[in-house]
Amino acid sequence: MRTQVAIIGAGPAGLLLGQLLYKAGIDNIILEQRSADYVLGRIRAGVLEQVTVDLLEQAGAATRMHAEGLPHDGIELLFGGKRHRIDLHALTGGKRVMVYGQTEVTRDLMEVREAEGLTTIYEAANVQPLDFEGSKPRVRYEKNGQVHELECDFIAGCDGFHGICRASAPADKLRTFEKVYPFGWLGLLSDTPPVSPELIYAQTERGFALCSQRSATRSRYYLQVPLTQKVEDWSDEAFWDELRLRLDPEARAQLVTGPSLEKSIAPLRSFVTEPMRFGRMFLAGDAAHIVPPTGAKGLNLAASDVGYLSRALVQYYKERSEAGIDGYSEQCLRRIWKAERFSWWMTSLMHRFPEAGSFDAKVQEAELDYIVNSRAGSTSLAENYVGLPLV
Ligand code: APR
Ligand code: PHB
Repeated sequence: MRTQVAIIGAGPAGLLLGQLLYKAGIDNIILEQRSADYVLGRIRAGVLEQVTVDLLEQAGAATRMHAEGLPHDGIELLFGGKRHRIDLHALTGGKRVMVYGQTEVTRDLMEVREAEGLTTIYEAANVQPLDFEGSKPRVRYEKNGQVHELECDFIAGCDGFHGICRASAPADKLRTFEKVYPFGWLGLLSDTPPVSPELIYAQTERGFALCSQRSATRSRYYLQVPLTQKVEDWSDEAFWDELRLRLDPEARAQLVTGPSLEKSIAPLRSFVTEPMRFGRMFLAGDAAHIVPPTGAKGLNLAASDVGYLSRALVQYYKERSEAGIDGYSEQCLRRIWKAERFSWWMTSLMHRFPEAGSFDAKVQEAELDYIVNSRAGSTSLAENYVGLPLV
């Protein structure tokens, strides 16, 4: 079997890349180790930057998002028991974000891919990128106990943080940068109306909380929890009780509770790999970098990476120019590091750190006060939250 671009991983990065390439007339096959249902079972973030919305439009996968997604013009920061609105729309010259779950983005991309009759090989085992430092890369994989090889011009490593592509890159050519935070987020999804029209990011003495949503009838809430805790330690009731304690009186009164549809704990981590190209293999999305979820940047960075990568590959195939692929890594990393900085900053601003002393707590309070009361402070948050432009 042969294709122009072999994509490893059918998460949002791989699926979006496949669709952008297809729209540009570039042939691709996706190899995914899990089943489609397994991929759709993962509950993840749900805030899309305009850049991501634009790319989904370009990919022909934006119809349901425009019908069902919720455009948001602001977010709220809760601290000292009071909420303060950050008017994203006014502070960024008219930009906003779209609240639409990653699971739905993935489903929409899977559907358009299937409708176009493009090949995705699910449940591919022992996927291995080979010979990418030469001119004829291949991907070996097993399906139903048989070994297959896919010949290609390029390999796109869209296989997430635990994938095989980064692990296959030559160790002496790869640098990693990492920061692990001493807490996690316990998330709960429920079929209850959101507590408030906009997202609430809460900084409290009991730890961080986030009130997010998926629709007018479905909510997603998070609590900062110590890494020692397990999801089994948290009954639904205990979750709702703790959330109430981290909210302001009005939100507490408004909160509608119900049984959880899903509950899980995710550790928080910042991680970057450099470079993102090894010969004819490129890394994109979580395969190359992880951000803590506080800034809602994970999915958006995956989208901007594949936006750059598809542009670079179009340049290669249509204009016979290698400038795009040569510049891919550097171009991505400039945007990634700014999103890493923002996610780290927002995490530091909003969480309670076990090692923090009274001085740190006062500085955090002063910074929050500055952000909401200074136009420069709010503008900086807003500009990063809606997403920096794709240059
Ligand atoms: N072979 C084939 N597929 C693999 C392999 C492998 N060895 N290893 C992992 N995969 C698949 C995973 O099963 C998964 O479906 O690659 C896919 C990677 O998808 P994601 O983890 O969703 O990563 P990405 O597409 O980069 O999307 C980034 O996910 O974690 C969030 O915050 C992150 O929202 C962001 C998004
Ligand atoms: C979510 O809805 O899951 C979500 C929203 C905003 C974040 C993180 C997660 O910053």
